[in-house]
Amino acid sequence: MEVTSIKIRNYQIKDRDAIRKTSLESILLGEYRTSIFDDEILADLLTIYFTDYEPLSCFVAVKENQVIGYIMGTQDVRKMRRLIKYKIFPRLIYKALYRRQFLRRNNLILIKNIISSYLKGEFITPDFSKEYPATLHINIRAEYRRQNLGSLLVDYFLDFLKRKNIRGIHFGVMSESAKDFFIKLNFNLLFTGEYSFLRYLLGENIPHYIMGKQI
Ligand SMILES: CC(C)(COP(=O)(O)OP(=O)(O)OC[C@H]1O[C@@H](n2cnc3c(N)ncnc32)[C@H](O)[C@@H]1OP(=O)(O)O)[C@@H](O)C(=O)NCCC(=O)NCCS
Repeated sequence: MEVTSIKIRNYQIKDRDAIRKTSLESILLGEYRTSIFDDEILADLLTIYFTDYEPLSCFVAVKENQVIGYIMGTQDVRKMRRLIKYKIFPRLIYKALYRRQFLRRNNLILIKNIISSYLKGEFITPDFSKEYPATLHINIRAEYRRQNLGSLLVDYFLDFLKRKNIRGIHFGVMSESAKDFFIKLNFNLLFTGEYSFLRYLLGENIPHYIMGKQI
């Protein structure tokens, strides 16, 4: 697909670094990002399943050979969860240990807060994977937002899933603006919650919405 000089195409290995860099741009931590886990670990958390385990479900928007946005996902969220739990997460822990990430005070404080959120039940959500088996993760470089590219990427991905006979998609978003964007694209709000684990940094809880759509 080509819109003016922007092209949407399948992911290629050469896009991997640009995707990882873009994924870090919209992380909620803003100015605090550099004070916690290093970028390598954060980019792994955000993108590694998609780029390394399901590259055929990844697409990029390119302008003049530069990646300016991406949409990536899975066709089978249960398979993705299994792989994250048994393969990706253990490797990430090992990587973090090797990179001495657990010796940093800021990281330990964050982990303590995540455990506290976990104990408060903030990570408990209904399981939507039967009705909505796919998921997605989208990100557009800041200077290319609000120019309709997000809408185009979502349509492109939904078409792709439709051709694979996938019946529905669901995913979490953690900002009002992302929620508003998907509502505008006729996604349904399936679940509303809040996370408190970044309150000590941001001064407030962050919202957690699960959006879904039948395809
Ligand atoms: C969310 C995101 C993908 C939207 O992409 P985009 O290209 O900026 O969106 P579009 O230009 O296609 O917007 C379509 C409509 O959605 C709504 N919308 C988009 N961004 C919005 C925002 N920040 N706040 C409120 N509404 C928004 C608007 O109604 C917009 O139409 P308008 O510009 O005519 O008012 C993009 O802002 C982004 O990459 N954000 C950071 C990453 C993220 O939040 N990802 C989602 C979680 S996986």
